[in-house]
Amino acid sequence: MAHRLTGGNRTAGHRSTAGRSTPSARPRTGQRAQELQEYGSITALPIGLEETVCKRSVEALNQTLADAIAIRDLYKKHHWQVAGQTFYQLHLLFDKHYAEQSKLIDVIAERIQLLGGVSVAMAADVAETTLIPRPPKGREPVPVQISRLLHAHEIVLKEARTMARLAAEREDDGTNDVLVSDVIRTNELQVWFVAEHVVDTPVVRAE
Ligand SMILES: [Fe+2]
Repeated sequence: MAHRLTGGNRTAGHRSTAGRSTPSARPRTGQRAQELQEYGSITALPIGLEETVCKRSVEALNQTLADAIAIRDLYKKHHWQVAGQTFYQLHLLFDKHYAEQSKLIDVIAERIQLLGGVSVAMAADVAETTLIPRPPKGREPVPVQISRLLHAHEIVLKEARTMARLAAEREDDGTNDVLVSDVIRTNELQVWFVAEHVVDTPVVRAE
């Protein structure tokens, strides 16, 4: 059943003196209706894949999407809250990785839609879905920030490798490609850039 909010905008137009209906310039705000498609359901598109295949891929991709959104937000948190001698380089690096994760989540979300699924999107729904542990609201020192990021990346990498193999087995090559070329490659590279910051090397004297 369609739900309508009370308030203005009930009048679609008015009768002119000539008796013709003219459109109203008033914006029709506050509208609500039933969802077009429920979360978790599939609306199959003609892409040559069975609906059951699409459903399994969508479930896997929504898990990866929730985790990628969590990592993206973790990077922005760290970008803002970083402190100490490496502030400037980490401030910039964290924002670069944030931007790369933002691109990645768009690729994942759009693949979910083209498979006929519904992408997880909002923070509360992401929080219910992600496997990445929730960090405290306050500021943490750099080594802890980095440990959190590395742990989060490893969660995504482990799940993405399994998901990629399963997608290949059910002949969903596009999903396999997104998981390997986008999810795995992006996360592996970011691990390298972040992990090098917690290698305990001498700064001035080698011995
Ligand atoms: Fe910024």
